Amino acid sequence: MKEMMWASLEDLALPVKALFTGYLLVVGLGLLMAGGQILLTHGMADGKLGLSMDDLVYSYYGNRGGSKLEAKLNGSMKDYAPGEARLVLIKWARAGAPEGEWEAKIKPITDRNCIVCHANMPGLANVGVKDDMLKVAATDNGATINTLTRVSHIHLFGIAFIFFFIGLIFSFATGFNPIVKALLIFTPFMFLIIDIAAWWLTKMHPGFAWLVMVGGFGYSLASTVMIFSSLYQMCIKPFRTKKAGSS
Ligand code: HEC
Repeated sequence: MKEMMWASLEDLALPVKALFTGYLLVVGLGLLMAGGQILLTHGMADGKLGLSMDDLVYSYYGNRGGSKLEAKLNGSMKDYAPGEARLVLIKWARAGAPEGEWEAKIKPITDRNCIVCHANMPGLANVGVKDDMLKVAATDNGATINTLTRVSHIHLFGIAFIFFFIGLIFSFATGFNPIVKALLIFTPFMFLIIDIAAWWLTKMHPGFAWLVMVGGFGYSLASTVMIFSSLYQMCIKPFRTKKAGSS
């Protein structure tokens, strides 16, 4: 079967090239930023920089064995609560943070050891205030169904748009086997569905965290190939062939 005629990136009119190049540069930068943001939010979920399986499990499944308070008191906040006080706080969180013990038992500890920082640093949970403390002492169930539903549909609609235009531009690329080209264009959409499905599966069972990684990696790779080969064919290749022809 003869391949249908389709314009080639190299021969596009300059204004169209300008439009496509501008779009790809901005979207490429956006994808990098998104990667950075993932590292800083999900990536820090286990307290260490860099995205790991633990981060994904914490973000979606939660840390159902304990509370954020306990995790912090065993981690970065360990030095601020002297031995006895630390155990009292941990026991209180494990007992389900009974409000009756707040005034007499818990508040004196946080007043003494914690509020120097926590009452004054914006963005930190103020562990000297009961309502804030109850939140960090509650068992961490990860992302809520509400959040997941909201983020899922924004992600599906928004990212499909990005991949649509990256794929449309790349469909004008030359030198690719049509099957390879079709696969590259289709891949990000497939992985996007895998990625979102993996969030929900990880919410239900921590064993699916690896699938989130695979999904994100899959569409990043496919769109990187498409963005770079499109930019190359529009902006660099025409000059190289001209040079080769004139020498
Ligand atoms: C010297 C300042 C300082 C003191 C004292 C301190 N904290 Fe913190 N705390 C921080 C900072 C900074 C963070 C954010 C970085 C992190 O999570 O390690 C934090 C984070 C936390 C978090 C996580 C809050 C969140 O919103 O994610 C909890 C829970 C916590 N601290 C509990 C305590 C408790 C309980 C005490 C007292 C026993 C205490 N901290 C004493 C500085 C302090």
